[in-house]
Amino acid sequence: MPIIRPWLVDPSTDARVIRLMVYVWLMMELDAVDYLATVFYDTPQAPFDLHHDLARHLWDESRHSQFGYRQLPKLGVDLMTLEHSLDLYTILVQMPPHERYAMMTMEFEANSFPTKAHVMDRVRELNDFEADTLLAFDRNDEQNHVRSGHRWLPVMMALGGDARPPEEFVEATRARFAELAKTYGGVTPHSLPAARRLTGEKILRLATSGALAPLPCDS
Ligand SMILES: [Fe+2]
Ligand SMILES: [Fe+2]
Repeated sequence: MPIIRPWLVDPSTDARVIRLMVYVWLMMELDAVDYLATVFYDTPQAPFDLHHDLARHLWDESRHSQFGYRQLPKLGVDLMTLEHSLDLYTILVQMPPHERYAMMTMEFEANSFPTKAHVMDRVRELNDFEADTLLAFDRNDEQNHVRSGHRWLPVMMALGGDARPPEEFVEATRARFAELAKTYGGVTPHSLPAARRLTGEKILRLATSGALAPLPCDS
């Protein structure tokens, strides 16, 4: 995985490394588009307003992915070296839609804010207006997704015939996810050989030296 979590919060990490890693993070949000799309399909009886908010959520995630897709090449990353993780998708589709939606909004999104706040502070050091703006949009959208989650999770649970209090349900779903991850996590093979795929070390070199290898036009 090219995102090294401890580096993101280590005060000695170069802010340019953090900027590249957060763009990789954003691009990887394409997996959220994939697993959120399955929630529509699996809740055909949901009220229109629920699907309406879900559609906005889906669009936001595809946009976040585009932030990375658009910015990474500008910073010298060859997108063909980026592996896309299918892990979360593979685990989440084992769950019914209300559990999938609970993991997304009450776990992944709800817990992303402290790291994101730190990343935004560090990226601000670079005086990169575009990066600051994209990250501000991302955080604002994520706040809306968590808000939507609070509104719609109980409705989705009712559709799935689950009458537990939402907090109890979320807690149980976390445990179930951890259990499923033992079987379905880490089973998708690498799509690129080790020498070719982007890694944290390569991001470090790229961010701090300006280039991984001479460009064809340099020769
Ligand atoms: Fe997102
Ligand atoms: Fe989100």
